[in-house]
Amino acid sequence: MCGIVGYIGPQDATPIILNGLKRLEYRGYDSAGLAVLENSHIEVRRDAGKLSRLIALVEESPLHGHVGIGHTRWATHGEPNARNAHPHMGMTGDVVVVHNGIVENFLELREELSAEGVVFNSDTDTEVIVHLVERYMSRETGLAEATRSALNHLRGAHGVVVFSSREPDKIVAARIGNAGGVVVGLGEGETFVASDMPAILEHTRRVVFLESRQMAVVTRSGVEVKTLDGAPVAYEVHNVAWDPIAAEKGAYRHFMQKEIHEQARSLTDTIGGRVDFEDGRIRLPELKLTPERAQRIQKIFITACGTAGHAGMVGKVLIERIARIPVELDIASEFRYRDPIIAKDDVVLAISQSGETADTLAAMEEARRKGATLWSIVNVIGSQAMRIADGYISMQTGPEIGVASTKAYTAPLVDLYMLAVLLADLRGALSERERRRLVNDLRRVPDLAGRCLDREAEVENVARTLLNVSHCLYLGRGINMPTAYEGALKLKEISYIHAEGYPAGEMKHGPIALIDRDMPVVVIAPKDPWYEKMFSQIEQAKARGGTVIALATEGDEMISSIADHVLWLPDTPWMLSPVTAVIPLQLLAYHIAALRGLDVDQPRNLAKSVTVE
Ligand code: F6R
Repeated sequence: MCGIVGYIGPQDATPIILNGLKRLEYRGYDSAGLAVLENSHIEVRRDAGKLSRLIALVEESPLHGHVGIGHTRWATHGEPNARNAHPHMGMTGDVVVVHNGIVENFLELREELSAEGVVFNSDTDTEVIVHLVERYMSRETGLAEATRSALNHLRGAHGVVVFSSREPDKIVAARIGNAGGVVVGLGEGETFVASDMPAILEHTRRVVFLESRQMAVVTRSGVEVKTLDGAPVAYEVHNVAWDPIAAEKGAYRHFMQKEIHEQARSLTDTIGGRVDFEDGRIRLPELKLTPERAQRIQKIFITACGTAGHAGMVGKVLIERIARIPVELDIASEFRYRDPIIAKDDVVLAISQSGETADTLAAMEEARRKGATLWSIVNVIGSQAMRIADGYISMQTGPEIGVASTKAYTAPLVDLYMLAVLLADLRGALSERERRRLVNDLRRVPDLAGRCLDREAEVENVARTLLNVSHCLYLGRGINMPTAYEGALKLKEISYIHAEGYPAGEMKHGPIALIDRDMPVVVIAPKDPWYEKMFSQIEQAKARGGTVIALATEGDEMISSIADHVLWLPDTPWMLSPVTAVIPLQLLAYHIAALRGLDVDQPRNLAKSVTVE
């Protein structure tokens, strides 16, 4: 997963950047590179593979200078090879850029720039950024203004760092949305830039965090921050403790909050390397899935526990809808004891963040005994659930520390969507147009997630109204029925408030008796195929005196006119709507628990990895 480190100051930039990148290695990546200003011109070293390869390159052909930027890349557009590795230079060789995120409109921008005579040297989306900066610099604009103009063309969420040999006294860094943080470290006569704090903490404790749509002009003597509209920003300097755990938490109060916020970035990484937006195709090489094997599958069993099980429920809808393969969903602790009927060509897919959950592993063993092909979706590389599977998909979220799973819920939702599209493609179940549309929808996901995160303050206000409730009902339908289960699970496990997720259509068969003014009802009602049914659910709850907190698509005035509170969601393609819909629910649970003063990251009685049956 992408990492960025930059340096400007009196020291040799190369070792500082390489050490910083090493500290971000845990995030995972497939290529690395660095650019240093050496004797007034920019020199780049980059290659596919691990940092050790880059270090060897630098040893063979050393680089020295006082300004530089480095990057570890997790491929999104274009293969993980040397020409696609960052940094990327413009045509003049005077400007260089590193970038985290996905440029959603890169095809349009590439066409536009090509028509202006720009020649592209990589398959990446990132390269458009450096050419845009050059376009504006050639119009006699300085680097900072040129970068600002360039960034205003980008759609999506980004962390970007740029420098130019024409203005060797500065580095420009910017953040748009939540595809990655940008932190500036203030030293004595030197300044650092990074995507993540661990990269620079050995040099300074004084840091400035950029908010979305802010840019920093970084010099040896400090930093100037402005918005992408050009307005100056009065920033706060944070003093960070050396405690590595506190450092990891950054500006967040709890890991859970940090991990919720990491989702735009972890979703970028989830898509990275798997999606070819130009071909409109998905690649999941670790699954080792051939067209012949895909065509023979009669049934898929998904098995998992807790939050991972809720992801599996969404996966059932996606695989059945997109690939038209029947899917059975089993809670892992039940699967093993129900003597499932598994045929020779069936696949059992286990989902597990830790990859060590005893029930899930036992279910996998049972499936193995019955001769199924075993797949897993795991977050921890090298975990048991990965090792015993015939093929796997790794979640790419980075470590999840908070006991309540958040980013390891949304990542498998996207993995399952990609799996469904891949299966459908290999089985010839999709028209080219439909496949391209489904693949293209993925491009917007990180930014849509970021837009939910931008509404955190609104969610916190709603959380204040629910602080003292004893019960809460979550209702959803169709693809968002599991969102109701997951929202309720989040609330109960960290706030200890009794919460139940329910399929909304079942209300009239019993649970509606519970509704009164003391039973808040969270209704998940985005504009998806079940919208009208959910709308009438809100009316029914209101008619019985219930307090309704509705999750609705931005601009839905019908819902805002009847619900007591609305948590707004960006308009999301419905098959991906569980990814965005769960984010306000994660934030809601988080803020209720935090406001109640509870131990959010380590709730009572719970463990991160449940290795007992
Ligand atoms: C809830 C939660 C648990 C886990 C479950 C499975 O927030 O974290 O419900 O989802 O224990 O864990 P993994 O995914 O590690 O198998």
